[in-house]
Amino acid sequence: MLKNVRCFVLMRNKFVSLKVHPFMSLFSSFPHLQLPDGLSSEQLQQAVAILKSGGLVAFPTETVYGLGADAENPAALARLYEVKGRPTHHPVIVHLGSAEQLSEWAVEIPSQAYQLAQAFWPGPLTLILKRSPRVPDVVTGGQDTVGIRVPSHPVALALLKAFGGGVAAPSANRFGRLSPTTAAHVQADLGQDVDLILDGGASDVGVESTIVAFRDNQPIVLRPGMITAEQIQEALAKPIASVTNKPASSSTVSRAPGTLASHYAPRTPLTLLTPAELDETLTRINTPDWAVGVLARRACPFDLRDKPWLVWQQLEDEPNAAARLLYARLRELDSLSLDQLYVEVVPEEGAWAAVADRLKRAAY
Ligand code: TXA
Ligand code: MG
Repeated sequence: MLKNVRCFVLMRNKFVSLKVHPFMSLFSSFPHLQLPDGLSSEQLQQAVAILKSGGLVAFPTETVYGLGADAENPAALARLYEVKGRPTHHPVIVHLGSAEQLSEWAVEIPSQAYQLAQAFWPGPLTLILKRSPRVPDVVTGGQDTVGIRVPSHPVALALLKAFGGGVAAPSANRFGRLSPTTAAHVQADLGQDVDLILDGGASDVGVESTIVAFRDNQPIVLRPGMITAEQIQEALAKPIASVTNKPASSSTVSRAPGTLASHYAPRTPLTLLTPAELDETLTRINTPDWAVGVLARRACPFDLRDKPWLVWQQLEDEPNAAARLLYARLRELDSLSLDQLYVEVVPEEGAWAAVADRLKRAAY
């Protein structure tokens, strides 16, 4: 469901507020589209016009906000990489408005990919498939595969359907930093470098999509997400391989920036600790000029509650809720100019896998 959908428009240096009128969709220039609450026909038209003219549109998805460009416009893609600060050999995901477009963007699609698309699209799943000639080199980093996803956020779907083509979109943060889960995060990270930010409220899932590739027709999870390995196995009725929680340096999977060791890092040094290690570490701190932030699923122990050098944030004890708020909590801690963040480990199995994976990558 869409919460508090507000849309504002940031045109280069100018902030333009567009009034959302409930009857606007009556005059829609996209009569075939059902516009989500809060997204006016004008805003949608403007977003599509920007994409078509090679501009950048940040838009909400159910996982994290994406920074979108026309996937078939090399100049737009060049600007996307520049704004993102991303090395050009790192591939970006192509977002489509419908699974029916899959065959335009990929070839030799395994039947298991169709099964997964049927089960999880629109939704937080990215499929790595052999690219079709339609996909420019710059999208794939020169590889012969392309990542494809049909997101489920109503604003993302409306944009993709109205645009009609593929929208290449990495997460709308600078390369290597925490992904944005609100329009305000995008604004803070990319500000004037984006032509338009569509605000669709806070992302429901909160961590990036599950990425599944196929090796010799065997599905393999390259990046854990809300759709778990168990759910994928269930949809395919067969066991699958996983590279969950193994950074690229220790796995055979290459060229996936999401698998670089410190891909989702805050600016403040972050260390992952077990509960016992955390307790032990905190009892040793007694210097007044050393400020520490903690993110843990338990509440702050009573004897530490009045310590002026400690900011303790509690993370939800349910994996989907924890994922939803993970980046917002880390960003908040990161904004406090602390010297060190300590995060208590979470389980690595099942629905916790995505949170465990992102925390490992944030630690350095
Ligand atoms: O949830 C998501 O996937 C978000 C939203 C915006 O859709 N997007 C996202 O994009 O997380 P990005 O660029 O931050 O991460 C994309 C990941 C990277 O790890 C990249 O290496 C991987 O997808 N990827 C893309 N194309 C690939 C390919 N052909 N082979 C292997 N990995 C690929
Ligand atoms: Mg990213």
